[in-house]
Amino acid sequence: MRIGVCYYPEHWPESMWEDDARRMKALGIEQVRIAEFAWSRIEPTPGEYDWGWLDRAVDVLGAAGLKVVMCTPTATPPKWLIDRHPDILPVGADGRPRGFGSRRHYDFSSPAYFEASRRICSAVAERYGQHPAVAYWQTDNEFGCHHTVVSYSPAAVARFREWLKARYRTIQALNEAWGTVFWSMEYRGFEDIDAPVGTVTEAHPSHRLDYRRFASDEVARYNRMQVEIIRAHSPGRPVAHNFMQLFTEFDHYKVAADLDVAAWDSYPLGGLEEQWFAPDVKARWLRSGHPDFASFNHDVYRGMSKLPFWVMEQQPGPVNWAQWNPAPLPGMVRLWSWEAFAHGAGCVSYFRWRQAPFAQEQMHAGLNTPDNRLDVGGSEASQVASEIHTVLAAHADANAQIRSKVALVYDYEAKWLFEIHPQGADFHYPRFAFEYYSALRALGLDVDVVPVDASFDGYSLIVVPPLPVVPDDFAERLTRSGAQVVLGPRTGSKTRELRIPANLPPGALTSVLPLRVWRVESMRPNVTEAVLLGQTGGTADGVARHWRDFIDSDGPASFDVRARFADDHPAYVRSGAYHYFASLFDDALTMRLFARIAQEAGLDTQALGDSLRISRRGGLTYVFNYGDQVHTLDNVSDDAFVIGSHEVAPQGVAVYRSQ
Ligand code: GAL
Repeated sequence: MRIGVCYYPEHWPESMWEDDARRMKALGIEQVRIAEFAWSRIEPTPGEYDWGWLDRAVDVLGAAGLKVVMCTPTATPPKWLIDRHPDILPVGADGRPRGFGSRRHYDFSSPAYFEASRRICSAVAERYGQHPAVAYWQTDNEFGCHHTVVSYSPAAVARFREWLKARYRTIQALNEAWGTVFWSMEYRGFEDIDAPVGTVTEAHPSHRLDYRRFASDEVARYNRMQVEIIRAHSPGRPVAHNFMQLFTEFDHYKVAADLDVAAWDSYPLGGLEEQWFAPDVKARWLRSGHPDFASFNHDVYRGMSKLPFWVMEQQPGPVNWAQWNPAPLPGMVRLWSWEAFAHGAGCVSYFRWRQAPFAQEQMHAGLNTPDNRLDVGGSEASQVASEIHTVLAAHADANAQIRSKVALVYDYEAKWLFEIHPQGADFHYPRFAFEYYSALRALGLDVDVVPVDASFDGYSLIVVPPLPVVPDDFAERLTRSGAQVVLGPRTGSKTRELRIPANLPPGALTSVLPLRVWRVESMRPNVTEAVLLGQTGGTADGVARHWRDFIDSDGPASFDVRARFADDHPAYVRSGAYHYFASLFDDALTMRLFARIAQEAGLDTQALGDSLRISRRGGLTYVFNYGDQVHTLDNVSDDAFVIGSHEVAPQGVAVYRSQ
């Protein structure tokens, strides 16, 4: 457990560097990430490298006892490179290149950019691969930020055709799989196929889904190229990438498979503002962030990281990029930091050392103000650094990597599929996955977020948010685990090619869930349907939102109906260890059902309410108060506390030895 910072020596006079490094060290910072946007300074003229300044910066940081995370600078190709190879620029759905003048102006499929990246990455890796101060690497910066995963360039289309050829072998197989006979869309050769944009009405959904899969694979291929270069020149030094919060435009499991550390960039206030949350929810958590937002991302990235995951960029104060940018309440930077460690983070690195008084992010806070005085976030980071010593002294294993009893299945293709074929305008997969997660957390459960192809052995409860395509061996793995399994609506509703399964949903899962979804309906945001746990005609126990599956039984085997809609159709059915929800229920009802199923799975739950959260790790229990009232912890002995006490103040943290 350690803290770090993101630093841009190229933004400041060299005369400041030594003092910066000294003050970082004094604050308790141990690692410093640099150079991810510095290409124009590293190679100001084509082929002529200026290493002097970067050598000195690395030396200064190393001499102060800091470990450097060296980045490849490929998120910002310099102007001369774009002028030489304009086809590096990504192309939007309107067919126009997205120009130079900000960042991430490159196309993952551009052969010229692949080569240029190979060259600059090799140069940086050769130069610093063995440098004693360089302990870690970061590839690029936030793949996909600013909507850059999908590009519609001629280079992308050419590579897409190759990708399709490898997947389907023959054009007949593709026509058959997609069902192009519909509307006379049949193709006579792979070279006939374009990007799925610019059509008169909706382009073919299977075509669109494959384009998304292809674009995702391009990100993985590009990252792998960088990782291989770094490993060749810097063997043994962990390689990370900084992913984004709730970002789903490529398959992160595939990219993370090539890395040592899955890191992510945590901006709880910006994230709250920019996501689907209703205005009252945004107002409620304005200066603290939603209590489950950072946690969800911690659990997502912990699950795919080989070494303990990191927060590569931690929000230190107001950001600049959301529609509105509130200041965190005092204490929140510390709380967010401890919450990351409680979820198993190895490092929390703040973004950035000092607020830059120029360019796009001049309104974005740092640990220091532009006039170089410690800001609130800076003092809280320093407090965290000293508390880490206390916690590690109390428990050397404090951020042990452990397995939880509850797994939440999280899938990237599901997001693309529902986006392409929503059937109801607000069928937003990450939101539903988050709401299930949030309900589990409010019950005091620790959760692992896992991919569809995970081994489920060892879990007691497995929750599957709407998962349209299920792997062939999904039911077998779920059943083998012996866990109680909750499946959201629309699970098993499509084949890999985006068709309705021959036996109707839940497709292959019919072997364990003898039911048939014979009709579906989507619901406007202002429409709900009552749900009753008891007898027909009783009072409603909650409501269904967004969606309804109409279920009947498939063959002689049957299921128990545990809840019904007001019109008597089954809303929640159970068959053995499998629980199928035919809709998305309101939060309170979801929590009530999860609590009951958790109990059947042999798990203890607690009703934590909406502002208190608890995590357990390495023999310690961590308590976080997101609310505005003091929370009193009963039943913890005085001498168990490592940080804090029985009274957990608003924005407060308590850590105690678990009994
Ligand atoms: C991240 C990015 C950083 C910086 C930061 C501002 O998305 O990686 O470079 O832009 O946001 O919050």
